Amino acid sequence: MGVSRRDALKLAGAAAVGGLIGSDAAAAVGRNAALYPGGVPGSWPIVQGATDRTSATFIVLAPLPASHALEVAAGGIVLPSPLLANRLDLPALDASVVEVRATGLAPGRDYTLTVRGDDGAVVDRRLFRTLDTGRPRGRFAVASCMDEGYRRKAITMWEALAHEVPDFVILLGDACYADRRNPARDEAGMARRYVDTRRGLAWFRMERLVPTLAVWDDHDLGGDNGDRTFVHLPFARRLFDAFWGTAPNAAWRRGLGVGSRFEGFGQRFYLMDDRSFRDPTGTAGGRQWGADQMDWLFEEIGRDTRPAWVMNGGQYFGSQALRESMEDDQPAEMADLLARLSRVAAPAAFVSGDVHFSAIAAIGPERLGYPTFEFTSSSIHSTVNPGPIGRGKLVAERRHNFMTFDVDATAAWDIRARCILEGGVESFARRVSIAR
Ligand SMILES: [Fe+2]
Repeated sequence: MGVSRRDALKLAGAAAVGGLIGSDAAAAVGRNAALYPGGVPGSWPIVQGATDRTSATFIVLAPLPASHALEVAAGGIVLPSPLLANRLDLPALDASVVEVRATGLAPGRDYTLTVRGDDGAVVDRRLFRTLDTGRPRGRFAVASCMDEGYRRKAITMWEALAHEVPDFVILLGDACYADRRNPARDEAGMARRYVDTRRGLAWFRMERLVPTLAVWDDHDLGGDNGDRTFVHLPFARRLFDAFWGTAPNAAWRRGLGVGSRFEGFGQRFYLMDDRSFRDPTGTAGGRQWGADQMDWLFEEIGRDTRPAWVMNGGQYFGSQALRESMEDDQPAEMADLLARLSRVAAPAAFVSGDVHFSAIAAIGPERLGYPTFEFTSSSIHSTVNPGPIGRGKLVAERRHNFMTFDVDATAAWDIRARCILEGGVESFARRVSIAR
């Protein structure tokens, strides 16, 4: 007794910084102490997942036995306890991945999420809001390719992202490199890699939680350029579900595989699963998304005319040697996608990750009947692409970065896309509008 909340947080946070994040990185945290609860990283990694106007999900990586309690409060009034939505225990790692859903909330106000240990003491405390998805304008960020082995960047890049204050964040693949530092390439190693990544990224330690949605690419799956035949696909799916959340709400729900759709800010966001249904490389007429997922996408897009962001781990438009893209690797499926997009009433933009550079490419009107763009956001902290990156692009950046999108769909579909480097330095920015 006699330990204040602030002291408890400091003790827990110091352990997190020293033991889990690494001492070189701990020095970096000090420069942005205001982002963390009580000035130190939260003790347990927490994700705010799918969120709508009145509910929010949280995924907590807790030690075993998971006998903690989660409490949501507003203005000092404790609300009904969040309900358990999913749980995956990983005894060999002394870890439990717990997904809970808090309901009965309202947009525009701060809530606290408090974690109490089995003795009732505060272990961690964060702030969050729901998402006012009815607003016509919003800001979201897109990042891909996060290897926590880049220990300093695994902190500083997320601090830069927090300073941009996005309404929500989309992680477009390689949110865990399950095959790196996993020499046996086995399921025990994959689980360890998911836990290590969750523990190593500052995004999950900050006081202010931000709704974060993810879809996977090959490294989350656990096999380089993995496909539907990958032997550990069912286990990878269990891990991904546990670590990124499964509970649907009014704005978000799962599509096929680990794909999903989110609606908000007058727009639709389709996160496509580019691995679960992918035919092995070299399959004649092979698909990346599969016929059923393609049909799901167009059933969804065809519902109304609101702008549609079609988001995928891998790039769409290719034709560059030694680089993967749907256009190069699954040309028949790409042709099908473009033909069907050209027939729907909603305008569409493409967003991708994977290639370890960020870029904006103009997509000429011969493709969909109107000019649009492919935005690629890649490597927030992973291997830097040494190759030629700017060919055929309006702008390109290979240094570690993420992108933000200020979007307004009230009249035209107005988009301001920015590429942000460490320290909040802007690499490039473009304002575009898409109309069909
Ligand atoms: Fe990557």
